[in-house]
Amino acid sequence: FGSLAAKVQRNPSFSTLNSDDISYFKEILGEKGVIEDEEWLATANTDWMHKYKGSSKLLLQPRSTEEVSQILKYCNSRCLAVVPQGGNTGLVGGSVPVFDEVIVNMSLMNNIISFDKVSGILVCEGGCILENLITFLDNQGFIMPLDLGAKGSCQIGGNVSTNAGGLRLVRYGSLHGNVLGLEVVLADGNVIDMLGTLRKDNTGYDLKHLFIGSEGSLGIKLLMEAKRKLGEILSAFEFLDSKSLDLVLNHLDGVRNPLPPTLHKFYILIETTGSDEPYDRQKLEGFLLHAMEAGLISDGALAQDINQASSFWRIREGIPEALMKAGAVYKYDLSLPVEKMYDLVEEMRTRLSDSANVVGYGHLGDGNLHLNISTAQYDDGILTQIEPFVYEWTSKHRGSISAEHGLGLMKANEIFYSKPTATVSLMASIKKMLDPKGILNPYKVLPHSLSS
Ligand code: FAD
Ligand code: MLT
Ligand code: ZN
Repeated sequence: FGSLAAKVQRNPSFSTLNSDDISYFKEILGEKGVIEDEEWLATANTDWMHKYKGSSKLLLQPRSTEEVSQILKYCNSRCLAVVPQGGNTGLVGGSVPVFDEVIVNMSLMNNIISFDKVSGILVCEGGCILENLITFLDNQGFIMPLDLGAKGSCQIGGNVSTNAGGLRLVRYGSLHGNVLGLEVVLADGNVIDMLGTLRKDNTGYDLKHLFIGSEGSLGIKLLMEAKRKLGEILSAFEFLDSKSLDLVLNHLDGVRNPLPPTLHKFYILIETTGSDEPYDRQKLEGFLLHAMEAGLISDGALAQDINQASSFWRIREGIPEALMKAGAVYKYDLSLPVEKMYDLVEEMRTRLSDSANVVGYGHLGDGNLHLNISTAQYDDGILTQIEPFVYEWTSKHRGSISAEHGLGLMKANEIFYSKPTATVSLMASIKKMLDPKGILNPYKVLPHSLSS
């Protein structure tokens, strides 16, 4: 990964950590909240894909908003750069230091504060693990509107910060709609309370949206038929190509193809969630029968119980893990017109011929393609075959170079493929206003030419 960091220069105006800094952090967080342990730091310096690696010497674990505020106030005055870190499952190099930034790890802020059964409004701290929230709500008879393969590790703060899309966006919409309020700590330590729990509130600019998706830097036909026939009960419409399925079957233990092993080009995983099981099942069966008769699908399997449903999900959710086991992976997360989506996968295959395994999967219901290129090891020669071609192709089709993963370090300089210069300049002005010294997650999101 040397070549990734080599693209960025350490900002010389940032200070370097000294022993007085460590003593101060111990004063406010206690010994336990100040981590200098090498093994721990090695993990926190490395991203989930083992592709980006920083060299931070310090990880802080605040327990409250007040402690986060004190940390940032101090770091801002000392001009120490900071990287907020949740579950560290981000896929664009946004959650790890680029150089020696102080890591602010959120995992101890993991309390559920309240849940109102009447309004369905949950208030919790940013370090809550998504799966714990899903289970908590499930036990109350409610559904968390967000689900993704990394649920066992990712945190709600990280989810909001990346505006994660996930597996059920097709049904429940994005976090811009589901997050009613936020409490945020600005770069200078000021706490901004936007923690409203009202469903409707039109008093001025809705500033929380600035932070949703800010990445810690401030933040075909079957588908049409499914939407028509399943309507309100359609909760997921995911796709994988045969190469993605092969990867999962070859690299993950205990995964079984529920269909006979005839090779199909594409597989779709459809989930419905409704309130009247016999009626919902009837609707789903009717849809499948119709889709078979109309020749829209050639084969299918219907989960008979919750265990079987989980084993189907394991196939789709297991793709990122299987890719990691297969070797190095170049990951692209693109919004594209659904009818054009797979053309890019095929063009990429032709471009790279036998030098890589090109796979396509993703959230078809949201027009979100995950184009992944799997190779034995990272190789600059292959990278130049992929980039900027992939971004140019996406831009030509008026798509987005980041549908849901964010820009992080990986795509900070590529933002212009999806946003006009004037828009990027306005973003840089907002960043400057909220974080004048640029200490919060430097080198990420905004192009390096505008961010220092
Ligand atoms: P991290 O990776 O720790 O951080 C991500 C970004 O958020 C960083 O910029 C970080 O600085 C910032 N951040 C983290 N916590 C905070 C906080 N409390 N305050 C401010 N900033 C913060 N993404 C999708 O959108 N859809 C998917 O379906 C999906 N599936 C995935 C499946 C797998 C197996 C994996 C490994 C990843 C997947 N992702 C997906 C990507 C990733 O899980 C999401 O981006 C997730 O929301 C990141 O949460 P996290 O807690 O791990 O954040
Ligand atoms: C997914 O949908 O599985 C995630 O976004 C992770 C990935 O793209 O690999
Ligand atoms: Zn995804």
